[in-house]
Amino acid sequence: MIALDRQHLAPFLDDSARASLQPYVLDAHRAVLNGTGAGADMLGWRDLLLSTPPPLDAIEEVAEEIRERADVLVCIGIGGSYLGAKAVIDALTPAFAEDDLEIVFAGHHLSPGYHERLLETLQGKSVYVNVISKSGSTLEPSLAFRFIRRYLERTFDDTAERIIVTTGPTGGLLNPLRDEKGYRKFVLPDGVGGRFSVLTPVGLLPIAAAGHDVRALVGGASDELKRLDGPQANPALDYAADRYLLHEQGYKTELLAAFEPRLAGVGGWWQQLFGESEGKEHKGLFPAVAQYTSDLHSLGQYVQQGQRSLVESFLWVDDAGDGPTVGEEDGNPDELNYLAGKTYAEINRSAYEATAAAHAEGGVPNWTLTMPGLDARSVGALIAFYEHAVAVGGYLLGINPFDQPGVENYKQKMFSLLGRPE
Ligand code: PA5
Repeated sequence: MIALDRQHLAPFLDDSARASLQPYVLDAHRAVLNGTGAGADMLGWRDLLLSTPPPLDAIEEVAEEIRERADVLVCIGIGGSYLGAKAVIDALTPAFAEDDLEIVFAGHHLSPGYHERLLETLQGKSVYVNVISKSGSTLEPSLAFRFIRRYLERTFDDTAERIIVTTGPTGGLLNPLRDEKGYRKFVLPDGVGGRFSVLTPVGLLPIAAAGHDVRALVGGASDELKRLDGPQANPALDYAADRYLLHEQGYKTELLAAFEPRLAGVGGWWQQLFGESEGKEHKGLFPAVAQYTSDLHSLGQYVQQGQRSLVESFLWVDDAGDGPTVGEEDGNPDELNYLAGKTYAEINRSAYEATAAAHAEGGVPNWTLTMPGLDARSVGALIAFYEHAVAVGGYLLGINPFDQPGVENYKQKMFSLLGRPE
């Protein structure tokens, strides 16, 4: 269950404006629940958590086969077909963990060196591929898949067993290829946009292949969404309402800062979720991310004293483990004996509390979202929290939070430069 601490936000918000907004917040909430807002045909991510769960048995079975037979799983996809799996795998994998199965990503950019090296490093290894694309025609994953498919066809005599396609139920370019070649397939249901697809096979197959508990992940998300749908005090609505009021006051950027490096990928996923959902009609807070305390030694100066257009949301993990406890040292050469008896977790918490207070004093409104732990249920809950909040927030802004018309503009120019036939 995700908690929202607003103590460093309240001084920046006018209580009467917040109270006046509340009826609109509840209208937006009801529009999400009842499917009466713009883009309501793209609320399928809610159905997956509330009524028609993803095919977990089949996902776990294929994941187990991959773990048994492969040295490397190459996950090919970009945007919503990549960021969710990366976020969850990073969040659930302890630092320096070693696994017999290596998960690598491809087709999430156009770096020539990366893709050349990837093909080289696959040599001599047992390779499985999960190609993930709703449309099947996105340039980056299509290009990577062409090279990797050809490598597999040259190298293995059971290529059809090694390629798993995740795409829409029908249409697109991957469905006919899959039919011709006999690849196995998982479906991204209609009604679920890429950035809302992490809890469909799009994210769940790579996450299960990485050895993580997809049942707990989906269960945590489902329980959280039911809680947020209910009548009690609702932190997702508070977060959406606060963001809206700050946006109306002229704040431009929301900086999401986690004090746990395993949450860096969640920051990337959150950027897409909020950036693509809200950044239209010249509206929306720009979603930026930072890793604290690392970035307190770089961005921290700007946050404290730069242009006053930032709001900050801290992502805090209640129980991320204690870590080592500081001991006394003779002579105190590093002058750290004042910390004796404290754990890393306690020191990290002091850094977070100090940062939140200092940045508020410096004129940066901030909230804290607290997740219970770095476990699958907590990460699932966080996903549901943000998905509900961005849907409500989009309706408050008066935009459709489920489309992304602006991502086409650069593609048209790029395809024209590359000479793609009409
Ligand atoms: O949110 C979105 O819709 C996008 O980020 C898409 O997921 C991304 O462009 C990849 O599209 P596709 O899955 O069709 O390859």
